[in-house]
Amino acid sequence: MTSRDKILSLFRTHPDHYISGQEISRSLKISRAAVWKQVKVLRELGFEIEAKHSQGYRLLTTPDLLLAADIENGLDCQIMGQSVVSFPEVDSTNVQLRRLAEDGALEGTVVVADRQSAGRGRLGRRWESPFGVNLYCSILLRPQIPVQQASQLTFLSAVAVAETLNKVCHMSAKVKWPNDILIDGAKISGLLNEMNAETEQIHFVILGIGINLNMTADQFPDELKYPATSAFLETGETVNRLVFLQELLQCLDRYYSEFLTDGFIPIRRRWENLCNMMNMHVEIEQGHGSICGTVVGLDPEGALRVQLDNGQMERILAGDVTPVDKIDQE
Ligand code: BTN
Repeated sequence: MTSRDKILSLFRTHPDHYISGQEISRSLKISRAAVWKQVKVLRELGFEIEAKHSQGYRLLTTPDLLLAADIENGLDCQIMGQSVVSFPEVDSTNVQLRRLAEDGALEGTVVVADRQSAGRGRLGRRWESPFGVNLYCSILLRPQIPVQQASQLTFLSAVAVAETLNKVCHMSAKVKWPNDILIDGAKISGLLNEMNAETEQIHFVILGIGINLNMTADQFPDELKYPATSAFLETGETVNRLVFLQELLQCLDRYYSEFLTDGFIPIRRRWENLCNMMNMHVEIEQGHGSICGTVVGLDPEGALRVQLDNGQMERILAGDVTPVDKIDQE
């Protein structure tokens, strides 16, 4: 916890009392000037803090920020969230977590931000990350599995995100191969999983998760290449980001523990049940041309299994998959 988080935690444990600068300074072992500086920053972040002469400070209201202390409080996980680092603003949670991972951070460390100034999407795209409305988080894993199986974790996180959306927001989220989460064909969440490995050994995997929770229509960029949505746009209800994040971490924690003991098969089954194109006739655009077939599932390395129109089975490792009826309508 940073000293700012500790000050907040002190305020929260004494909601009806004034706490003097001297008490805070003594309890946190920081100078009075440092206390004053952190109180100033908290006010700039939207915390209303009353200061009374000769009595001290008292917290009056809290803005809707994702704070490490709140996230850790009451979190029921074995691995996820062992350590949580929160930022009001950051370039990219994946970039920050990579630094922590290189310095030896624990498995399950979470980095979360209220805004990203350089949120990263797949294929070098940008991930729109306005302040205080959505979820931008990255989670560190150190699985002892073969490098070729690392992509299984992408499917694990897609299942956890879709199931959490369905549980918390009462929606019907689907997963799209390889790693999008959709509501009625519009993208609500994207995953950017990054790995640091040698030929034989994974050092770490970062699960980067962006979920459009409370974003309004005017906050989406005009030039988006695909239809996009948010939970708020779909349901008309504001999602409590803290509750959502805690549910998501708990779901990830259950599935990751299951994955470490039982392997990929249970996750694969769940992913196939949530897949938006299972058993559908699709066209796969692969840059050098396209092929058509029926989606029959996932293979252990995360390739999409497609039965081609000539009966042959094909493993799809990359490409844009579109249902053929959709293509006919266009
Ligand atoms: C995609 O292109 O669909 C993937 C988007 C992933 C966005 C998330 S937000 C949290 C994490 N930090 C980033 O910079 N990107 C991922």
